[in-house]
Amino acid sequence: MSGAMTSPLLIVEDDLALQKQIKWSLDRFESVTASDRETALVQFRRHNPAVVTMDLGLPPDPDSVSEGFKLLEQLLDADPHVKVIVLTGQNDQANALRAINLGAYDFQAKPFDPDMLSLTIERAYRMAELQAENRRLQALNQPDALAGLMTRDPEMLKISRTIERVASSDATVLLLGESGTGKEVLAQGLHQASKRSGRFVAINCAAIPENLLESELFGYEKGAFTGAAKTTQGKIETANGGTLMLDEIGDLPLSLQAKLLRFLQERRIERLGGRQEIAVDVRVVCATHQDLKHLIKDQRFREDLYYRLAEIVVNIPPLRARQGDAVLLAHAFLRRFAQEQRRAGLSFSEDAVRAVEAHGWPGNVRELLNVVKRASIMADGQRVAAEDMGLSGPAIGDVDSANSGIGASSDLNLRAAREEAERRNIVTALARTNNNILKAAELLGISRPTLYDLMNRLAIK
Ligand SMILES: Nc1ncnc2c1ncn2[C@@H]1O[C@H](COP(=O)(O)OP(=O)(O)OP(=O)(O)O)[C@@H](O)[C@H]1O
Ligand SMILES: [Mg+2]
Repeated sequence: MSGAMTSPLLIVEDDLALQKQIKWSLDRFESVTASDRETALVQFRRHNPAVVTMDLGLPPDPDSVSEGFKLLEQLLDADPHVKVIVLTGQNDQANALRAINLGAYDFQAKPFDPDMLSLTIERAYRMAELQAENRRLQALNQPDALAGLMTRDPEMLKISRTIERVASSDATVLLLGESGTGKEVLAQGLHQASKRSGRFVAINCAAIPENLLESELFGYEKGAFTGAAKTTQGKIETANGGTLMLDEIGDLPLSLQAKLLRFLQERRIERLGGRQEIAVDVRVVCATHQDLKHLIKDQRFREDLYYRLAEIVVNIPPLRARQGDAVLLAHAFLRRFAQEQRRAGLSFSEDAVRAVEAHGWPGNVRELLNVVKRASIMADGQRVAAEDMGLSGPAIGDVDSANSGIGASSDLNLRAAREEAERRNIVTALARTNNNILKAAELLGISRPTLYDLMNRLAIK
């Protein structure tokens, strides 16, 4: 069960007699109280209530509603999912509506009817619980279309949900990431999730000489140039009804940038040597490891083209910045190669796992894939050692030595920090032990049921 039902109710009311009365009439809910905005915020941080009832008129100016509205906004800023029930004066519909518009869950006019308020609170709890459960399930679910993308990293999971969400639109997506981070995997996932009936066609702008690239992209008519023996469709046309991936878009020569821009504006192409325009319906996704903004400054990339391409920008983190993914992927790749080479039972030695964790993976997932492949061939017996992978065994590092500092957020929040540390350690332990719950629990010094509980609560699959 998630926290919603077990978190207390926060009652914000400056009239102490009334505060007592509310608390008393709601005695079936565990509650905490506050009588001004500052205290309410402290209580909110401390107890993380799923439901809050609040008076709008709070000191220092209890006759106006400014403190109340300020508090309402601060509460929703701190937790957009919190259910706030505003208690308003009689005949104060304007403020009630304003509160709802700001994001309050409901309102009750004073003097309130205890049964009615109690019912509203109960409903708010149920709603909070359902929504939390929904978010948890959503976090667990990696979209099917991205089945080829293995990850447990929160940032990568967020990216795969973004990809799924934008898939059905025809917005142009720009994938930015170092070499080997999975740009092509994501582009294909985008195509699959889009359910477009045409093909996924990729072209690498860096791999094709400038003089050939134009005909590759736009196609040509018979006789357009020497050697043009028959009319040939270009990649853009081939992708009609589907998705066109322009890989290494940063390497597209300036002359073709102008032509591509025209195509993106008009959605029509003209084959080389052709006389008629052909309408093409294609979803464009671009990728590059280069810094396009930098290329724009150097006048090597057109700014107007950039804005056409960058309708949705996805920044893919390098492997070294993903929590536990290197080891998770290493195990998965080893399983795959062991099967391919009929060497069942291949597994990593402890120093190999440490070496995978410690390595910086400048070539990202592709480098890891190659290293594990090589190791699966080189390994003598059943155990793959660090040296089979050409990685030197590192000094035994601490699980979180790289991450023990205080996070970037200036908003210190112990609960969030604890959750993050828990998540990081659990993901690392699971990766190290190849998802063996018993061993991971041992490594973490907790019982197996506790580990299950934590995984459930933190939505770790
Ligand atoms: N999260 C992942 N899970 C499983 N396999 C992955 C993942 N990310 C990448 N791969 C695999 O790693 C290899 C490199 O990925 P991909 O070709 O998508 O990278 P890229 O970012 O396009 O690289 P480049 O910039 O060099 O073109 C591929 O074999 C791909 O299948
Ligand atoms: Mg690629």
